[in-house]
Amino acid sequence: MLSVLTRLSQPLLLALEPETAHALTLRALEFGIYPHERGAGERALEISLWGETFPNPVGVAAGFDKDARVVDAVLGLGCGFAEVGTTTPRPQAGNPAPRVFRLARHGAVINRLGFNNGGHEAARARLARRTTEGIVGVNIGANKESPDRIADYVAGLEAFYDVARYFTVNISSPNTPGLRDLQAPEALGALLGRLMAARAARVAAGAAPRPIVVKLAPDLSDAALEATVETLVRQGVDGIAVSNTTLDRAGLTDPVAQEAGGLSGRPLFHRATVMLARVYQASGGTVPLIGIGGIDSPEAALAKMEAGATLMQLYTGLIYEGPGLIGRIKSHLAQVCRERRLTSIRELVGTRAAEWAAKTI
Ligand code: FNR
Repeated sequence: MLSVLTRLSQPLLLALEPETAHALTLRALEFGIYPHERGAGERALEISLWGETFPNPVGVAAGFDKDARVVDAVLGLGCGFAEVGTTTPRPQAGNPAPRVFRLARHGAVINRLGFNNGGHEAARARLARRTTEGIVGVNIGANKESPDRIADYVAGLEAFYDVARYFTVNISSPNTPGLRDLQAPEALGALLGRLMAARAARVAAGAAPRPIVVKLAPDLSDAALEATVETLVRQGVDGIAVSNTTLDRAGLTDPVAQEAGGLSGRPLFHRATVMLARVYQASGGTVPLIGIGGIDSPEAALAKMEAGATLMQLYTGLIYEGPGLIGRIKSHLAQVCRERRLTSIRELVGTRAAEWAAKTI
């Protein structure tokens, strides 16, 4: 019944203004109005990573639950993990509306939200009240007007250290002026140095070493990408998330295509997957990758893993396909394991990275 309702509500949500539709979706999830996944997960989909067992590699990307309002609902939908944020130290209104645009014919979205969020304290309080066990990561960022952006990231690590199972350092949003400059090796080295030191202090005091993942933009040139990945590997990051939204607009015919902001969804898939494979190659497959960008089908999800992703996240695909996409991806991955006689889906990670990395963007 609930899944029928969910299917019916998808066209209704798509008829609403995007931010209104998102607010309604969060309300429904807060009230528990969503199709709960039942039964045990497939063993072949489990991913052992960072000392944790992810029940499956599928998650919802940052931006969906910026304020940690619905983490248990996201997990209840069948995700193997959830990520909240981007969260900044102080609450922030973001850019003036309208600031989210659907490009339905392309299965895409352009957003220039600008880190609208309720700040660290509110999100932290919600996570601290949780009584459930599922894996939740926290995506940290900087306030737009902050005089010391690096200090904002360190404040994020400190604020959420005991409630986050991993951190994603978002230096790739196109909607906070200058933020992407933190991807340049020198700035990145300084940022990671401070974050690693803050974590080391926690570990010295007896806390567990929480993994630090860095999320990249898909618009880095080949040379910049190589330098960035080299810095990430040298600093010993635990993961790299590829990718955030793109500024590229090639091939789009929708009238809103020229709106400023980051583009996500189907047109991002190729670029983000090629980038993912290049990061896999550049890091010699030694750093676990989270593949993000344009996953809107089970086949696209499989391709992300073959290109190098150990975990994956999706957002825009859920807007157009609804939450049933999560189950369809998991069924397909489980079926692939059975057909190819794999004991774990992980055996497929990076198996086609060379092929993907060689494609032109
Ligand atoms: C995002 N994304 C995002 N990423 C991030 O690190 N912090 C954030 O706050 C947000 N906010 C956000 C809002 C909206 C409306 C969208 C559509 C996206 C980017 C997101 O996490 C993801 O990287 C991209 O959307 C690409 O994945 P999809 O949407 O193509 O599956």
